[in-house]
Amino acid sequence: MRQFDYLVLGSGIAGLSFALKVAPRGRVAVITKKNKAESNTNYAQGGIASVTSKEDSFEMHVRDTLQAGAGLCREEVVRTIVQEGPPRIQELIEIGMKFSEREAAGANGERELDLGKEGGHSKRRILHAKDVTGREIERALLAAIAAQPNVEMFENHFAIDLITSQKLGYVGENRCLGVYVLDKRSGQVETFAAPVTLLATGGCGKVYLYTTNPDIATGDGVAMAYRAGASIADMEFIQFHPTCLYHARAKSFLISEAVRGEGGVLKTIDGREFMDGYHPLKSLAPRDVVARAIDSEMKKSGADFVVLDISHRPAEFILQRFPNIHKTCLQYGIDITREPIPVVPAAHYQCGGVVTNVDGETEIPGLYAVGEVACTGLHGANRLASNSLLEAIVCAHRAAGKAASARFAPADYTIPQWQSGQATNPDEMVVVSHNWDEIRRCMWDYVGIVRTNKRLERAQKRIANLQEEIQQYYWDFIVTSDLLELRNIATVAELIVRSALERPESRGLNYNLDYPRSNPDWAQRDTVLRKQP
Ligand code: FAD
Ligand code: SIN
Repeated sequence: MRQFDYLVLGSGIAGLSFALKVAPRGRVAVITKKNKAESNTNYAQGGIASVTSKEDSFEMHVRDTLQAGAGLCREEVVRTIVQEGPPRIQELIEIGMKFSEREAAGANGERELDLGKEGGHSKRRILHAKDVTGREIERALLAAIAAQPNVEMFENHFAIDLITSQKLGYVGENRCLGVYVLDKRSGQVETFAAPVTLLATGGCGKVYLYTTNPDIATGDGVAMAYRAGASIADMEFIQFHPTCLYHARAKSFLISEAVRGEGGVLKTIDGREFMDGYHPLKSLAPRDVVARAIDSEMKKSGADFVVLDISHRPAEFILQRFPNIHKTCLQYGIDITREPIPVVPAAHYQCGGVVTNVDGETEIPGLYAVGEVACTGLHGANRLASNSLLEAIVCAHRAAGKAASARFAPADYTIPQWQSGQATNPDEMVVVSHNWDEIRRCMWDYVGIVRTNKRLERAQKRIANLQEEIQQYYWDFIVTSDLLELRNIATVAELIVRSALERPESRGLNYNLDYPRSNPDWAQRDTVLRKQP
């Protein structure tokens, strides 16, 4: 058994920020299922929303967040996160994060942070590193972590399940004791124990057939926490990003909302601007509105995509502001300085998750959750663009402070070694990949941007059948990361469908044709799911 003071599951912005803060106080294991940079964070484009300009105010950022959240945000959480953003940004800069700058207006050669604009923001407030903000954040955080002798990085290590006192049969409070981890290289399952475990495993975009997320986003943290007895809230609010590149060879490439912030306009394939028919902010309306508008235009016309056009801006500006988007589109034969970009909505962000307070504490002592895996109440029914990186740095800082005061010895408990089935089965890969595809397609077709009760019930039945089959495999055969991810996406799919069925209204990202309006009785009501022991 490996013993540490802190276990950090995930090496995106949430996990690395937390690890950096607790490293001076004890030994830290960062457990991450692929290479250390692979995360949703690494692909973030637009940037981090935070109030840094004199023309902006905390009050305005709070108001924009609450408005996007469609009545479901926790206002005190929104205020805390918005107000604590600037010092956390400063810390990122101090460890070497390079945000884009520009010449300050009227100053002789002085530089200031360049601020981008995105949907739902009333001011320019998005700090960014050109269009590769996440890559620069990962670079800076990983460099800072490498200088910490107390942090051990376990790459290609897959967290399977949390170890809790209740699962081990101890009576009394259900405490988190550590985690079972599959070393993907050796195939061995190891036991990691610590008084503090942080879930920082990110989101679940891969539950859907089309997503902007990389392959790591299989909702493992939510599934693990649910199995461990934690409450999971608001999973019906899956955010679909309006503009994912539509191209047969592009797997999941995002066209940042910042493109619309710099004047990009959404049009139908025959060149008609359509957003003025949907919202006064047109192409820069909140994401739920834009994604639904595109969905509706595509259904009306039968087209497979709409287009986003920024070709009216000078080519030098586009190349300097969006070098990665320009380069990537060019690889697919699209020159964005001269022609519109074909785009479609795709699953992007999980607004719900493991219930925590703003300090990252879950209901299970010893278990913390920060970042996309957590549901703090910041995002409500629809996340405001670029608020998730902000939430991760603020909550990681607060959770690190709380976790420092955790007092408890894991040695008080006897933790058994992992037991798994012994058999291997040549059929397994086929069944795993078939079931993966079936769940993702079913979620896309029946639990997408526009829902109905009938479609949700159909999805619920199919997912229940698949879960039975997966469970059989899980107990009988040696675990592999593919099988573990399949089990997790099935659990998360079940939670999304159940949450959507529990909410008898349309609000934010949950749009149900059977209840096309919001119901005031459901304002401020979360859908909370908890596994029965
Ligand atoms: P992640 O960065 O996703 O990290 C999760 C980590 O957990 C990874 O290291 C992963 O390998 C690991 N992991 C997962 N499961 C396991 C397991 N079972 N065992 C071990 N390790 C595991 N938000 C913004 O605010 N601004 C933006 O501009 C922005 N742009 C985006 C662009 C794209 C293309 C995408 C996909 C998202 C974007 N987002 C943006 C959202 C934002 O990037 C994420 O919400 C945020 O990075 C999540 O950070 P995280 O640390 O919680 O999780
Ligand atoms: C983007 O750049 O459009 C993504 C921003 C976000 O998801 O917050």
